[in-house]
Amino acid sequence: MKGIFITFEGPDGSGKTTQMGLLARHLGLRGLRVLCTREPGGTPMAEAIRQLLLSSWPEQVLGITEVFLYAASRAQHVRGKILPALEAGRVVLSDRFVDSSLAYQGFGRGLDPELVRQVNDLATGGLTPHLTLLLDLPPEEGLRRSRGEGRHGDPDRFEQEDLDFHRRVREGYLELARREPGRFKIIDATGPQDEVFRQVWEAVEPLL
Ligand SMILES: Nc1ncnc2c1ncn2[C@@H]1O[C@H](COP(=O)(O)OP(=O)(O)OP(=O)(O)O)[C@@H](O)[C@H]1O
Ligand SMILES: [Mg+2]
Repeated sequence: MKGIFITFEGPDGSGKTTQMGLLARHLGLRGLRVLCTREPGGTPMAEAIRQLLLSSWPEQVLGITEVFLYAASRAQHVRGKILPALEAGRVVLSDRFVDSSLAYQGFGRGLDPELVRQVNDLATGGLTPHLTLLLDLPPEEGLRRSRGEGRHGDPDRFEQEDLDFHRRVREGYLELARREPGRFKIIDATGPQDEVFRQVWEAVEPLL
């Protein structure tokens, strides 16, 4: 694999999309060819699965159903978009990846983490990011940012979950980072955007 695969993780409203945009611009200025993508989604079919996942339904959506839907969209995304870009030597930036399933479905919903990992290994064929930037932030602050001004529409299914759910997700992410300190870089996402980006760049630059 010739390219570099970097993922952004963290709770809702932690600044993933904002920081990914800043990083893409910086890398572009350096003359690198960058592909920005997101999960769930990234290909037309995977984006359709995203709509299923974020919509509200008149029935309880089971955790196991979520695991399979995320994994199905990920299988399309990895093979249809991420791997071809990496083979072409591009820097691929993804807004969320497998760690989101481990944090939300595993730690958040309480599903067996081993099961979540196995299903995802099948979906990705074992593709692992070179670097995962974990934007860490108290869930109260993330939710406040997500619901802040300039935000349109109703909260999605995950934004509606209670604070305890979001606390488990945060702790889950931190636990994942403790287990794989070589791949994860924990970024303090509480400060202003340029301060957060300084930490992002410090983590990314050695890879280039
Ligand atoms: N460092 C920051 N300080 C204050 N507000 C910020 C900061 N970074 C981003 N924001 C604002 O917080 C909101 C959420 O940021 P952003 O959409 O980048 O987060 P996200 O992690 O992608 O969220 P989601 O998981 O909901 O997609 C946006 O309105 C954004 O402008
Ligand atoms: Mg976002």
